[in-house]
Amino acid sequence: MCGITGYVGARQALPLALDQLRKLEYRGYDSAGVALLDAAGLQVVKSVGKIASLDPLLDGHGNGCLLAIAHTRWATHGRPSTDNAHPHTDCSGQIAVVHNGIIENYLALRERLEAAGHTFRSETDTEVLPHLIEEHLQAAEGAGEADPLAAALRATLREVRGSFAIAVVSAHTPDRLYVARRDSPLVIGLGAGEHFIASDIPALLAHTRDVLVLEDDDIGAVSPTSVTLHKLDGTPVQRAPLRITWDAAAAEKGGYDHYMLKEIREQPATIRDTMRGRVTPEGRVDLSGEVSLPAEKWRAFNRITLVACGTAYYAGYAARYFFERLLRLPVELEIASEFRYRDPILDEHTLVVPISQSGETADTLAAVRLARRQGATVLGIVNVVGSSIAREADQVLHTWAGPEICVASTKAYTSQLIALYLLGLHLAGVRQEGTHPLAEPLVGAMQALPALVEQALDNDRVVQEMAHNFTRSPDFFVLGRGLDYAVALEGALKLKEISYIHGEALAAGEMKHGPLALVSEGTPVICLATQDDLREKMLSNIKEVKARGATAIAVVKEDDTETARIVDYVVRVPRTLDELMPVVAVVPLQLLAYYVARDLGREIDQPRNLAKSVTVE
Ligand code: AGP
Repeated sequence: MCGITGYVGARQALPLALDQLRKLEYRGYDSAGVALLDAAGLQVVKSVGKIASLDPLLDGHGNGCLLAIAHTRWATHGRPSTDNAHPHTDCSGQIAVVHNGIIENYLALRERLEAAGHTFRSETDTEVLPHLIEEHLQAAEGAGEADPLAAALRATLREVRGSFAIAVVSAHTPDRLYVARRDSPLVIGLGAGEHFIASDIPALLAHTRDVLVLEDDDIGAVSPTSVTLHKLDGTPVQRAPLRITWDAAAAEKGGYDHYMLKEIREQPATIRDTMRGRVTPEGRVDLSGEVSLPAEKWRAFNRITLVACGTAYYAGYAARYFFERLLRLPVELEIASEFRYRDPILDEHTLVVPISQSGETADTLAAVRLARRQGATVLGIVNVVGSSIAREADQVLHTWAGPEICVASTKAYTSQLIALYLLGLHLAGVRQEGTHPLAEPLVGAMQALPALVEQALDNDRVVQEMAHNFTRSPDFFVLGRGLDYAVALEGALKLKEISYIHGEALAAGEMKHGPLALVSEGTPVICLATQDDLREKMLSNIKEVKARGATAIAVVKEDDTETARIVDYVVRVPRTLDELMPVVAVVPLQLLAYYVARDLGREIDQPRNLAKSVTVE
């Protein structure tokens, strides 16, 4: 939430910082601003609305400016307004700060600063930062510090509680910018005679592949030719850069109207990427090169806890069925934001699996820390390399879905499913002597999945035509049983997020216990019927909703003529093993949400009120 970028070097800083910022617009988009240093000194320009709303205000700014920071906001404290937009400045207007995160003790700090004569202009928590730096700067200068602003920043951050990724520019130090982080991401892109900063790696890919990932309580001074890192207590830090191998084009729209459609269509390739190098020529899943635990440790696990938010949680829903079927181990699935407040029971025999696209979701990260403190082994399923969860987990299995830009997750979800299947199969292999009876057919069927998802995507036209009929529907129900219910949850979330139509997923057997009362003439009910052993039960549920006037839309296996006969609309997806059907069955639901939202003229890639990476609790 909130995106930060910056540039310092020999090129024009303003267009570079803005160009990077546009790539982060998915992180928040209710207001935006820049701070730049040029011959006229420190200037701050900000506006309500998307980044484009800055363009007219920036006319004539930035010529010869070699240092700039920029911010796109997702409001937490204070409604979207120009005053609340970042950057925020101190009383003198010489220090500007952009921030992602929440300063939890800002009220007490604000009261103290106001009592000392500081004037505040916004309702934000962030504004205490420039004023605190201003206050500490005087002391640091008086103490003869070599870099007084860095010392003032350290003193400031020692006073604050909460989470932050920040960038600071000051007219006092026109040759460098400063950065710091705790619990919110920030990376420094390394160039020749220039440096970039950004909240997220995709913003840097057009300029560099070499990045320094800031860790908690790191403070950096970044000039065109140097990056100096210290800890909050002043201890110097040496950190090796990370080489990013993502394709820069993967973070562009590539001719599609929306990132979402592009990312849906990328799934055959991303599924292949998730599996690449993880299946031996003999058809065995082998993750030992990536997740290395002694065999006895794998065998000693007596419980698996999956923990995640949103779409990643729904991937966990499917994985729970899969793991229990394959491993015959108890599997718990936890919403990360609830997990730690429940005081969960974890020990060294628990394998905790956080699932996260961004690797930065605050709730999931908090769950990782709690699990580690309690002695569990944490194995993260993470997309973004170098992200907090990837670094803090004991082991990581990357999903390799490439950058996902649309706020609504699609390709990351199917890659999470694949990574979880791989993990389950690996665990099955190391936990039992010899091969698990289900392993061989599952691995074989997984290798065919990219082609099957390609076929599922051929439903594009059918779904597009169907979507026109539902743009006026206030509600959708999405029903499924077993693994189909896991997919229903994800399908309903997609509808809500981007079309703003209320979508409710229900375990089909639950309808008659209450929700059936909501079904009336024309209520759209999406019925997933891809699980062979549950199909007959599902047929009964479809008949129940049809009898109450529902318009039934079924997602069925290609050869299921019986279900097709009793519904109003049918989408056929190719057949694979029931355990793997979620990967195929979710595709038409992603497409349906996309086309309904498109017909309604929604902001598909950046739906209202949401942000891609949820770094606040
Ligand atoms: C998915 O469409 C959502 N945008 C959201 O639910 C997301 O999956 C959730 O916030 C978790 O994010 P993460 O995978 O980056 O941790």
